[in-house]
Parts: sequence; structure tokens; C-alpha cells
Amino acid sequence: MIRHEDIGRAVRDCEYAVRGPIVARAQELERQGRRIIYCNIGNPQSLGQRPMTWVRQVLALAEYPELATLVPAGTFPEDVLETSRLLARETRHGLGAYTESKGYRFVREAIARFISERDGIAADAEAIFLTDGASKGVQSALRILVADERDGIMIPIPQYPLYSATITLYGGAQVGYHLDEANGWKLSREILDRSIADARRRGIRPRAICVINPGNPSGAVLDEANVEMVLRFAAEHGLSVLADEVYQANVWRPGDRFVSFARVLERLALRDVSLFSFHSVSKGYLGECGHRGGYLECRNVPGPVQDEITKLQSIALCANSVGQVVTYLLVSPPRAGSPSHALYERERREILEALRTKAAIVSKGLDAVPGIRCNEVTGAMYAFPRVDLPPGVGDFEYCMALLEETGICVVDGSGFGQLPGTAHFRTTILPPLDEIETVVRRIGEFHGAFVKRRRG
Ligand SMILES: Cc1ncc(COP(=O)(O)O)c(C=O)c1O
Repeated sequence: MIRHEDIGRAVRDCEYAVRGPIVARAQELERQGRRIIYCNIGNPQSLGQRPMTWVRQVLALAEYPELATLVPAGTFPEDVLETSRLLARETRHGLGAYTESKGYRFVREAIARFISERDGIAADAEAIFLTDGASKGVQSALRILVADERDGIMIPIPQYPLYSATITLYGGAQVGYHLDEANGWKLSREILDRSIADARRRGIRPRAICVINPGNPSGAVLDEANVEMVLRFAAEHGLSVLADEVYQANVWRPGDRFVSFARVLERLALRDVSLFSFHSVSKGYLGECGHRGGYLECRNVPGPVQDEITKLQSIALCANSVGQVVTYLLVSPPRAGSPSHALYERERREILEALRTKAAIVSKGLDAVPGIRCNEVTGAMYAFPRVDLPPGVGDFEYCMALLEETGICVVDGSGFGQLPGTAHFRTTILPPLDEIETVVRRIGEFHGAFVKRRRG
């Protein structure tokens, strides 16, 4: 029988807090009949966000094309029928057959058009890989960047644990750079310089820098100058850049806008910086997390290196076909004037407006609680408030008590990384509007009572 200690160190050492012990306890309480509000993970449809009608109608026909002839005429709008015919043609054998290792060619071409239109730059379908969610794309990029334990990957602190867990799994070295909480979680050249110098002193060979924009869990949105600063830093130090842009549609503050790394890289013409950019169907307004669709786009990545990524993809044969189709729908929405356009736009606007409202409710509400400080949530789907806790009390204990007493499931800041001596938790902004105010109020009440009790 295999024993736990037989499992490799790397597997035993990696941690994934957003599905860790607090969530396991929440599930146990739920089985006992408690009502749990899951604010631990950015899984919009699990908290009531409705799927986009466009996506679901096309998917229904993509899986079962005969359906179109079995329902009364007019059930599906003409552009849905047209798209399903295109899918039948392009997928050739239907969704039950393996696809190319890199993913369906027509989807990669549609992504290249999407990038070109978004950024006004050229994009190459051959440098795009379809992946099971952005997670698998990030893992492929990290897999080729980490050769041994001296290879360092710079990651933001706080970060999304996909990064720390994968670097541990592949036996690389994490090089944290702290985002500046007092400054809206911005990142600065000074912080990056300090972090890389410190890594080199420890004998680490920095290979790449990861940036999450808009940020998870920070909620911060980088401006163009910030993106340029990171790219110039990467150029000076010979680093590759991993740009996690899965929240590109989730920008809340008027006047802010998403600026892609690809666009700035092209403007600066930095031909020596390899860029790996990621996008996903899980976030934005689609929220199709369960369909596991996403892509990785490479720029300035030499052919033989891209071939290794293709090989990695081919070891798992291909990304799932339905996720690839949802990725196609993400980048090819109904065009103006087509029958589905108005409904698509209305649903998109409603989802984004609700998220924008909830981002403000969460950040303002939590910031108003004595003992909690919360930066404005300017992007993505999370708040990462700082909590003042009595000496000797950690944020894990705090979050567990919050769960036990209120049924609200959030994740302790230690799962994301934070400055030593500080305590945080991460919550999503996803519960429905009528619930989110209650969540904020109950966290406030809990905080006051918990701190009073623990201070004695
Ligand atoms: C920053 C970031 N990157 C990547 C992912 C992975 O998303 P998926 O694999 O569902 O595309 C997430 C999920 O929450 C995320 O927050």
C-alpha cells in the first residue's frame, strides 16, 4: 500500500488555500445542515450569476446539433444557428473527438483577431494555445521556466496560490515582491529592485516575473506606466513575463482601463522579452468556470520553446473541446445588428454593473468597520482587507471562527502571502446583491465581538 510519506516532497509541500482546510470545514458544516455563504473562491455561477444566454444557446446546439430541427422554428436566433453550423463545420467530427494539441485552429484564429482588435497589434494564431482554464496555461509556462531549484519566479505578495503551489510542485524558487498596501496595492520599481537583488543574494537565478492584472486578491488595476515599468524591468534583467489577465473585463473605477502587456510590449518593441499572457472564460461576465476554457498567448518565444509547450499539451492530448468552444464564444460575441446582440449587451451590462456595485459595497462596508482597513476594489472580484487582531491570534483562526459563527467562508491572508506581522482575509464580491450587505454587516459584527472576546 502506498504511504503518505512515499509521495514526493513537492506534492506534499504545495498548498492551495482557496480550497484548503477552511473550505473543507465549511463543506462539513453544510452537510450538517448549516447554511454557508461561500466567499472563498471566484466561482460566479455558484453564487447565482446567470450564464449568458448566447453561450448556453450555442453550447446546447454544439453538443446536439439535431436539436435545431426538433424545436419549433424561431426557438434559437439566426446568429446562434449560424454559429452552431460554423462549429459543426470547423470541429468536423463534433465535440466528442480529440482536437489538435494546441486546440482548434479556428478558435486560435478567432483569439488572434480578438487580440488584434483589442490592442491594435498583430497576433499569430500559431502562438496561441488553448488550455483547460487559464490555470493550465500558467502551469505550462511555469513548467518550461523552472528547470531546477535555483530558478526563481517573481510573484506578487499577496498572490493567487496557483503560482506558489505550481512553483513548489515544479521545484522552483519563489521570489516574492510585496505590493504596496498603503498605496492601493500598487507595485513599484523600487520594490522589484529590492526583491530581485535579495533573490540573487540567496543564489537564485530569476527567470520570470508574474503579474496579475487586475489583481487577485489585491483588486488593483495597473495603468500603462506600471505595465511599461514591469516590461522595462524584465528587459533589464533578462526575465520572461507571465501576464495573468483573466480579469481584464472586471475594471470598476470610472477612468481606469485594462491595458494588456502585449500592447505595451509591442509599443516598446522589446524583442528580447518573452511574454506569456493568459485569459479565461471563468471570469469577466461569462463566469463559465466549470467549462474550463482559456488560452495562453506567446510573444517573443522562440519556435523550439513553443514546440515544447505543444509537446506538454500533447501529453494530455488536448484541452477539453467544450471549453475551447466557450473560449471561441468569449472572443467572438454577437456583432452589432445581429439578432442576439441586444440581449447579449444587456446581460453583459447587468452582470458587470452588479459586480461594480458589490465591489463598492464590500470595500466601503469593510473599511468602515473599526479594526478593518480595506482598499478600494478597483478591479477583479475580491477584497483583501487588513484586520487588527489581538496579539497571538492569526488570521487562520479568525477566518475559522468567522465560519463557525456566521457561516461565511473566506480565506485567511496567510494563504496568499502578506507582510510579516499583518493579518488579512480574502473575500469575493460575488454573493447576490441582496446578500452582500448582510455578509458585510455580519463580518463587522463578528469582528467587534471576536476581538473583544480574545482581548479578554
Ligand atoms: C488570477 C487568476 N489566475 C488564474 C485563475 C484560474 O482560472 P481558470 O483556470 O478557471 O481560468 C484564477 C482563478 O480564480 C485567478 O484568480
